[in-house]
Amino acid sequence: MKRTTAVPSPYNGMHVGIIMDGNGRWANARAMPRTAGHRAGVRTVRKIIEAATRAGVGTMTLYAFSSDNWSRPTPEVSALMRLLRRSLQVESKRCLENGVRLTVVGRRDRLPSPLLRVIQEAEAVTAHGRNLHLRVAIDYSARESIMRAASLAGADATNRERFAALLAQANHDPFPIRDVDLLIRTGGEQRLSDFLLWECAYAEFYFTRRMWPEFTEEEFLKALVDFEARERRFGGVPAAAAS
Ligand code: IPE
Ligand code: IPE
Ligand code: MG
Repeated sequence: MKRTTAVPSPYNGMHVGIIMDGNGRWANARAMPRTAGHRAGVRTVRKIIEAATRAGVGTMTLYAFSSDNWSRPTPEVSALMRLLRRSLQVESKRCLENGVRLTVVGRRDRLPSPLLRVIQEAEAVTAHGRNLHLRVAIDYSARESIMRAASLAGADATNRERFAALLAQANHDPFPIRDVDLLIRTGGEQRLSDFLLWECAYAEFYFTRRMWPEFTEEEFLKALVDFEARERRFGGVPAAAAS
């Protein structure tokens, strides 16, 4: 799937956020441990990264581990940290081959150092990727990142653009990130769970009852097509009424 220049596509430049939920329930329904669900979820991640690259999506942010997920039982947290390290190692190679830039958003000071090293390596080797900017949210809390950005602002008079730049700095993003256009959540819940609160101000939402391990490229494309049919008004009036 190697491609060095982005193809023209209706989704070019679009930012898709995904709350990858339902790994544990998927595993429980099959009498498997929750960690087996997380492993199955990694396979879906790979398929969806490839699908997003092919579709010409500009930015995709995947919610992999929330700051509130530290409250899970220690064995599950440890298994997730190991799985994140291994999969970032493998996926960063695929990202490099496919022109995908991989960066990680969230706090870094509480991550195990082997994971931190893999993150830094993955970010360095994929830094020239131009087909898709893939952001993986690990130890991420939208409220905390907004507070960190606010504290960076200090006494500075601020505006939205300046604040977006501070938010990028607080998130370890290489540059200010475009607002989310489409937010997908699998697993049947219809909530944000502290994901991209600022960036989702005008996001379109797509909720599916499908658990993350069974989410497919087909349904991802269905969500994109569904998005195309929405009329975004950003507080204005419908286009027809304006003319
Ligand atoms: C999402 O699946 C993955 C993470 C939060 C790490 P869950 O682990 O939340 O799965 P459910 O929601 O319990 O089924
Ligand atoms: C959100 O899912 C976090 C991730 C998908 C990484 P959770 O399963 O943690 O969210 P809640 O607890 O159902 O709100
Ligand atoms: Mg969940």
